[in-house]
Amino acid sequence: MNADVRLLITADGSHTAINQTLDKTYHSIHGAYQESQRVYIELGLLEAFNRFADHPLYVFEMGFGTGLNALLTAQQALIHQRPVVYTAIEAYPMALDDTKQLNYDNFLGTDFLASLHQSPWNSPVSINPYFSLLKIHSQLQNWSPSDAFHLVYYDAFAPTAQPELWEPEIFAKLAHLLLPNGLLTTYCSKSYVQRNLRLAGLIVEKHPGPPHKRDILRAVRPAS
Ligand SMILES: C[S@@+](CC[C@H](N)C(=O)[O-])C[C@H]1O[C@@H](n2cnc3c(N)ncnc32)[C@H](O)[C@@H]1O
Repeated sequence: MNADVRLLITADGSHTAINQTLDKTYHSIHGAYQESQRVYIELGLLEAFNRFADHPLYVFEMGFGTGLNALLTAQQALIHQRPVVYTAIEAYPMALDDTKQLNYDNFLGTDFLASLHQSPWNSPVSINPYFSLLKIHSQLQNWSPSDAFHLVYYDAFAPTAQPELWEPEIFAKLAHLLLPNGLLTTYCSKSYVQRNLRLAGLIVEKHPGPPHKRDILRAVRPAS
């Protein structure tokens, strides 16, 4: 089943989508690009490039959605010439016709958005020389991972819409995915989210967020 969405221009000029069933946006209306860039690229990807300098980077994204986080990551992989092996899970993909309306390639000066969305589900593909993508069509709760990751982008809809995705069991599952010193970043800094991340054995850091968001989180798996 495809997501029932309509698109909206956010304050920085980049699109987001609104899920009309849940009445939730996929990104901040104060700037979709600025939010993704701050939460997932600056706090997550660039730090992981530093920490794991000699490795291809294994990244897992919860909630592929519009593909904005994947597109920004593919762009950075190319700029830094760092191989990224990207796995994204999505339970309710956007219809291809909806994704064709997204303005991200124009906004970023990239040309990968169509290949991100048109790539098959459940089969890895190369998007550029430094970025490969595996999209998994499943609910996170039903997925049994077999890989380990340096970095997790946790981009579920807000706890007000999907509280079940912010419970201790989910974070325990994600903590097991992380390699030692691995990172998880998320836009949601609610105190019970911090607590549930700590219960999963992760060290929680608060960092300044994008416009109109005071704090965002980075959680770190201890080395031992
Ligand atoms: C906040 S949006 C993600 C935005 C996305 N990262 C982007 O760059 O556009 C949350 C996403 O999680 C997906 N989702 C909702 N419930 C899910 C579940 N149980 N398992 C996997 N994906 C789910 C939604 O369909 C939506 O695409």
